[in-house]
Amino acid sequence: MLRVLVINGPNLGRLGKREPEIYGYLTLEEINKELSALGETLNVHIDFFQSNTEGFIIDEIIRADEHYDGVIINPAAYTHYSYAISDAIKSISLPFVEVHLSNIYVREEFRSHSVTAASCIGAITGFGGFSYQAGLHCLVDHLKKKV
Ligand code: DQA
Repeated sequence: MLRVLVINGPNLGRLGKREPEIYGYLTLEEINKELSALGETLNVHIDFFQSNTEGFIIDEIIRADEHYDGVIINPAAYTHYSYAISDAIKSISLPFVEVHLSNIYVREEFRSHSVTAASCIGAITGFGGFSYQAGLHCLVDHLKKKV
């Protein structure tokens, strides 16, 4: 069984209430539940981590190296300026898939650049909660090809 960690960055714990016209009405708990169900059908065990703090996210990325086969990450606003998270992803050997609920390319200018995506195998942006499911399919496909 593959083991995948999902990391969510700042303010994603507010999903459902936070700017629903942009991020939708699903809570993070509901998104995670749907992803766990998909994980069961793909034979993947999934754990979830959310933090509003950059250092805690970096600690979790480093911890993941020992415990998981791959990571799905939504760094939220850190996407656009956290070289520290980008470096942490590069510092370990696991494949990462970056996901975003909104399409970061059609919003404010500052969101159209990700400093973290270049450390990942790929990025999915703009499909709401389904971005996580697409991300899981891509990660599992990548991991299976590696075996
Ligand atoms: C986000 C996009 C970011 O620009 C924003 O800061 C977020 C959420 C997304 O999932 O669409 O917090 O990562």
